[in-house]
Amino acid sequence: MGRLNLNQPIARLNNGSDMPLLGLGAYNMHGKEAENAVAHALEIGYRLIDTAEMYGNELEVGKAIRTSGIDRSEIFLTTKVNNRDQGYDSTLRAFEVSLQKLDCEYIDLYMVHWPIRGKRKATWKALENIYTEGRVKAIGVANYLVPFLRELKDYASIVPAVNQVEFSPFLYLKELVDYCHSNQIQAQAYSPLVRGKKMKDPVLTKLANKYHKTPAQVILRWDIQLGVSAIPKSASPARLKENFQIFDFNLSDEDMASIGGLNENLRVVDDPMVYF
Ligand SMILES: NC(=O)c1ccc[n+]([C@@H]2O[C@H](COP(=O)([O-])OP(=O)(O)OC[C@H]3O[C@@H](n4cnc5c(N)ncnc54)[C@H](OP(=O)(O)O)[C@@H]3O)[C@@H](O)[C@H]2O)c1
Repeated sequence: MGRLNLNQPIARLNNGSDMPLLGLGAYNMHGKEAENAVAHALEIGYRLIDTAEMYGNELEVGKAIRTSGIDRSEIFLTTKVNNRDQGYDSTLRAFEVSLQKLDCEYIDLYMVHWPIRGKRKATWKALENIYTEGRVKAIGVANYLVPFLRELKDYASIVPAVNQVEFSPFLYLKELVDYCHSNQIQAQAYSPLVRGKKMKDPVLTKLANKYHKTPAQVILRWDIQLGVSAIPKSASPARLKENFQIFDFNLSDEDMASIGGLNENLRVVDDPMVYF
């Protein structure tokens, strides 16, 4: 049942599969750069890789995984159905294409990339079919704020294993995380580093000095201590390493709270509510 025996924090998903809490996000990397970044990440110890058809790098991500020499069962691979492919039959077809491009035998987590109006139910039903046929280990959603999750309850037979949303100290969606976790949905943070825009924040800088870490490491540690999975993107070997070195310190309760106090509803990606 997808049990991972790794020396890093793992989330047990609602269907019994295991997913590392920290992963590499593969957005905005292409060709050799993408292949090298995934290869470096796997060497460093990352075992969760997040891609999507929309990112245009499934071929390279799959290649890096296959050539890593790491047992496929130790790697957790996510991809997502593109907006233009949503709908029942088109999602089934898109899944086959992603599987072919990744050429990785199976996908661990297949996600709805965005909650497209008029397509949400049909797309989810296709994912349920793919899951029931044993073609993926788990299915999930992305960009599902609470109204989308409440709506999904009306048509879903299977509860999403993961909900991937934009999340950072500057966009602290506490109500959403609480909703997810009380409904057995693992919350996952995308753009957790606010695309590098907040690395000089004074609160983060002060905490970074206190713990002998960097602002990025403080943010990622905050995610992990909240029980939120995080998938920072980096194509730089040094920053890939930096982002992974977060398992050797603990933020105090007081410092967790001061990071949580940084919220300013700041988004670097579109607000999913435009689709409601
Ligand atoms: N489901 C969705 O709709 C959705 C939307 C957006 C993103 N995502 C997923 O989430 C992943 C992460 O989000 P993101 O790529 O938007 O943003 P992010 O991870 O918050 O930030 C990535 C940016 O920060 C830089 N960076 C990385 N590590 C750093 C560090 N330690 N210090 C300073 N800068 C650092 C990177 O540059 P370098 O590469 O040069 O290091 C890159 O420019 C994506 O790759 C994708 O997998 C999903």
